[in-house]
Amino acid sequence: MFKVAVDLGYGYVKALSEDGRSVVFPSVVGSGMDRSLAAATLGGGRGEYHVVLHEEGNRREFFVGDLALSESADKTRAFEEDKIFHPATVTLLLAALSLVGPGGDVHLATGLPVAHYLGQRDRLRDFLSGLEADVEIVGRRRAKVAVQRVTLLPQAIGAFYSSILDSRGRVADGSLLRSGLVGIVDIGYKTVDYAVVDVSAGELRPDLCGSLDFGTSAAYHMLHREVERRAKRLVEGLSVELHCREGGRMHVMGREYNLESMVAPYFEKLARGIADRLQLAWRSAYVEMAKVLIVGGGALDVKAHVDEFHPAAEVVSEPQMANVRGYLRYATRTEEAERALLGGA
Ligand SMILES: Nc1ncnc2c1ncn2[C@@H]1O[C@H](COP(=O)(O)OP(=O)(O)OP(=O)(O)O)[C@@H](O)[C@H]1O
Ligand SMILES: [Mg+2]
Repeated sequence: MFKVAVDLGYGYVKALSEDGRSVVFPSVVGSGMDRSLAAATLGGGRGEYHVVLHEEGNRREFFVGDLALSESADKTRAFEEDKIFHPATVTLLLAALSLVGPGGDVHLATGLPVAHYLGQRDRLRDFLSGLEADVEIVGRRRAKVAVQRVTLLPQAIGAFYSSILDSRGRVADGSLLRSGLVGIVDIGYKTVDYAVVDVSAGELRPDLCGSLDFGTSAAYHMLHREVERRAKRLVEGLSVELHCREGGRMHVMGREYNLESMVAPYFEKLARGIADRLQLAWRSAYVEMAKVLIVGGGALDVKAHVDEFHPAAEVVSEPQMANVRGYLRYATRTEEAERALLGGA
């Protein structure tokens, strides 16, 4: 069955399919309004999708990703605790599945924050299994997608598997498996998740896992306030963030602001905050850590400061895709193991 991995972050949806197609777009959904407006806007930008869910002759229209940021008045960036069951989340998931897969039956691999994993795992599996929809990405494709199988992992474990398995699901880097304690720090938009795997015992250490209630959005928030302070007027926060991410510059009333250099001290502060909290959370295990993998999109933002986290801290390659890559590799491994078992029987 066609495998697709999806990481539904508070900030960005990341998806990767078994044939290597991937997509990253902001986790923003707004209701679709004027189709001619959408037609005029589509095509140019990245991560701009006009999504139609067809249901028994009815159509529900949404703008997803950057398009919702710019075009929908009622955009939401779902920030609730229970966001995984939020209707906007389902729209994001269906959009992701349609964008990277051919449609039809899929094996969906995804994750939950470590803190919610045990409590929500069964409910999420039930919720996702059998999810079916007729999804149109306007101007691109229309196909039915049906989730036939679900593989769930704690989020940080996704990143761990991404580091030890290759794309065929086989162990590629055995050195990590001889390591003792391996820490994982996932720096996201709204949260920083940290976890520890005791490789010798082959288990996660729940006592050393947790979540910090801040992420890169805290730095963007400070940047936004500084722009407003300097410009002496109100400026749209999401727009500051978008400009910072793309190009790093912005004009407000004819004056140019170099957002890239303005945001740097806030990322440094974010890094220091994470470093302090890690030492507290990991206590004596902190000194025993053989390797600390730094993942998540925010890893790129604090790259210059990861030495402060731990001497053995290392930003993995393409850190924003680490979880989703791991989900896919783990799902591949599971299917391979089943095939071997059946083949051997
Ligand atoms: N090309 C990029 N596109 C989007 N974000 C990027 C990019 N490069 C770096 N980033 C950083 O990555 C951050 C988002 O990281 P990530 O996608 O891991 O967060 P998330 O998983 O959505 O959030 P959370 O883990 O809190 O749910 C952005 O806020 C930005 O600072
Ligand atoms: Mg994340």
